[in-house]
Amino acid sequence: MIDGGAPLLELLAARPGERVLDLGAGTGTLTRAIADAGAHVVGIDASPAMLAEARRAHPELDFRVGRGEALEFEREFEAVFSNATLHWIHDAGAVARGVRRALVPGGRFVAEFGGHGNVAAVLAAVNHALDALALDGVPHPFSPWYFPRLGAYASLLEAHGFDVASAWSFPRPSPMPDRDGQSGIAAWLDVFARDLVLSPPDETRGRFTTLVEEHARPALFRDGTWWIDYVRLRIVATVPD
Ligand code: BEZ
Repeated sequence: MIDGGAPLLELLAARPGERVLDLGAGTGTLTRAIADAGAHVVGIDASPAMLAEARRAHPELDFRVGRGEALEFEREFEAVFSNATLHWIHDAGAVARGVRRALVPGGRFVAEFGGHGNVAAVLAAVNHALDALALDGVPHPFSPWYFPRLGAYASLLEAHGFDVASAWSFPRPSPMPDRDGQSGIAAWLDVFARDLVLSPPDETRGRFTTLVEEHARPALFRDGTWWIDYVRLRIVATVPD
């Protein structure tokens, strides 16, 4: 997993002795890498289960359960780092306020997450299947994540007192191997949209998956492999001195 996070770690360029908050630490792989650079790192995540894994793997590191939209730190970090987390949090203003408050003057926010157009072909296929099956009680269109446009996100940070130093939006299609007899796209949904996968009644679930696969195949299946159509938004913003 460091592979995917390596460019962002490079952008963070944590220095020995710096205090860094890893927002959305998950199982702690990138938190570990930041600590290895000599920084004092706190890893925070909303999932106690993920943090239990992180603590097992890295018992010497400081992990705390907490939500990105409810940060309670006050001028405690030279940097806040966040990889593949912010698309789970719709209240981006609350995140920006909390990150701004957590940073010292001159501190930096280095983040990457899903931007506008992220997993668009996956979502189109899911919504096609939901239309076709006319399932009751399933939120429709299915669009549970926060994928802002680059300009809108940069403006939001500026409105919360940041200077945006660099910002990028770029496609990063990524292979998703078949797993446990499931196609790559079905496996992806199983991991990241489990409630959706479980929402059709038992007898309809197979049909749902088939409809998703049929619709997504022309866009996402190449050379025997499923590809997830990620679009990343990457940003570096600083707090004025
Ligand atoms: C991602 O872009 O990394 C992502 C988006 C939605 C769900 C899970 C991951």
